Amino acid sequence: MFDDLRQYINWLSDKNLLTVVDKKVSSELEITEIVSRMIESGGPTLMFNNVDGNKIPVVANLFGSEIKVSNALGISNLNELYDKSNDVISLIDKEITSFKDKMNLLSNLFHMRQIKPRLVKKAPCHELIYDPEEFNLSHLPALKSWPSDGGKYLTSAMVISKNPINNKRNVGMYRIQIIDELNAIMHWQSYKGGSQNENHAKDLGITKIPVAIVLGCDPVSMWSASAPMPPDIDEFMLAGFLRSKPIELVNCFSIDMQVPAHSEIVLEGEVHLDDYRDEGPFGDHTGFYSPIAKYPTFKLKKITMKKAPLFPVITVGKPIKEDYYLGKASERFMLPILKKITSEIVDVNMPAEGIFHNFIIVSINKKYHGQAKKIMHTIWGLGLLSLTKIVIVVDKWVDIHDLSEVFWRVGVNIDPNRDLMITQGPADDLDHSSEFYRYSGKLGIDATEKIEGEPRVREWPDEIKMNKEIIELVDNNWGNYGFEKINE
Ligand SMILES: Cc1cc2nc3c(=O)[nH]c(=O)nc-3n(C[C@H](O)[C@H](O)[C@H](O)COP(=O)(O)O)c2cc1C
Repeated sequence: MFDDLRQYINWLSDKNLLTVVDKKVSSELEITEIVSRMIESGGPTLMFNNVDGNKIPVVANLFGSEIKVSNALGISNLNELYDKSNDVISLIDKEITSFKDKMNLLSNLFHMRQIKPRLVKKAPCHELIYDPEEFNLSHLPALKSWPSDGGKYLTSAMVISKNPINNKRNVGMYRIQIIDELNAIMHWQSYKGGSQNENHAKDLGITKIPVAIVLGCDPVSMWSASAPMPPDIDEFMLAGFLRSKPIELVNCFSIDMQVPAHSEIVLEGEVHLDDYRDEGPFGDHTGFYSPIAKYPTFKLKKITMKKAPLFPVITVGKPIKEDYYLGKASERFMLPILKKITSEIVDVNMPAEGIFHNFIIVSINKKYHGQAKKIMHTIWGLGLLSLTKIVIVVDKWVDIHDLSEVFWRVGVNIDPNRDLMITQGPADDLDHSSEFYRYSGKLGIDATEKIEGEPRVREWPDEIKMNKEIIELVDNNWGNYGFEKINE
């Protein structure tokens, strides 16, 4: 497990999974084009040592495949996230009967001890400390990713804010548009933790809130910032749990906030809630430019960093890009929690093409009529899942990760008159198709088998399947027919 980004980069280098680019490259568009090609071809993580002559190396494609996210999180595949999350959930209700159960419980309790972050006095991220006159936002190798972007952006920023009512921390990954040396725009969308803290502050009549922006730290914390944790759950606790090691935090100098001690670069400042500016356009993960919209201004007070920091970037655009793989990790981690809330849910798949909120496919253990429609309402009633535009519900035996099978079931199983449900609700800030900003229609598709009690005039037919004995017979005789082995 990696304590900081440099350790992860060194590990990738040892495994020949890193390519270092010494040739001078431009922060404007060139890096996006290179990284997009690397992600498409399953290429290596990249370290650009000379971005416009800047001395700070830019690291890219840190999370651009399932293997890369797994490596970064110190696991062998994303299903381990499901298991880890499931272990914690089952602590609540599992009966302890055997010695093995007891040992599992002890091991899980040990993990739970690691979740609380640890405050330290000395930190690598304080090796260099600058006032904005000496070093500021204009000195960072920030990228302009796409031709019509409104400027340069921090694309891999972990934003730490606090709920001013109960002082609980939130860490979210949001893009930040740099305006000048001291000012940047904080693109926390409505419904996100940072934006909720902004709303709490406004309710209390507060006009500026302390915010720390972390650029690079241990990869588990970086992923945790992008995970859709419920409000007031500390993302650093999640990171500590997954690492089986507490995250070390250190106090900031100019604001009342703690940041990971092993951060690469930390921007300390305040978000001014009475200073809204035009943010965008930005080539977004929808594959389209998100238009200009008003967001509050971050004002820099201090920058601290390691002596030789790295500057992480995450490129988004038409799927599939890095954000999909980070989201897949969240999907696997959150599934046991979802199943705990609604035990009828068997599995979920948010395909890359659906960019998280456009499509969710859910398989259920169907037992009663109208159940698929109930599940649609459940999805539309849960946290960020409430933004989902299209919910497809299928039976538990469907492999929902095989989109070909899902489309087949949708086609054969639905009568659009009976099986489509259209309703309305909150929409993602980025949705350009909705009739109103942040408010849209929603479509539920019930592609389950229709059972007793649901309107149907014909018997539901059996699905075609070959007899087991014939499959075995043909398997055994395959070579005897004179055929080559068929590659799976
Ligand atoms: C690369 C990347 C960029 C993101 N940019 C934004 C953004 O600009 N604004 C936003 O609200 N969410 C953005 N997100 C999604 C949030 O990080 C995600 O919804 C997270 O769960 C928010 O956590 P929070 O609700 O604790 O704030 C981004 C995610 C990734 C992976």
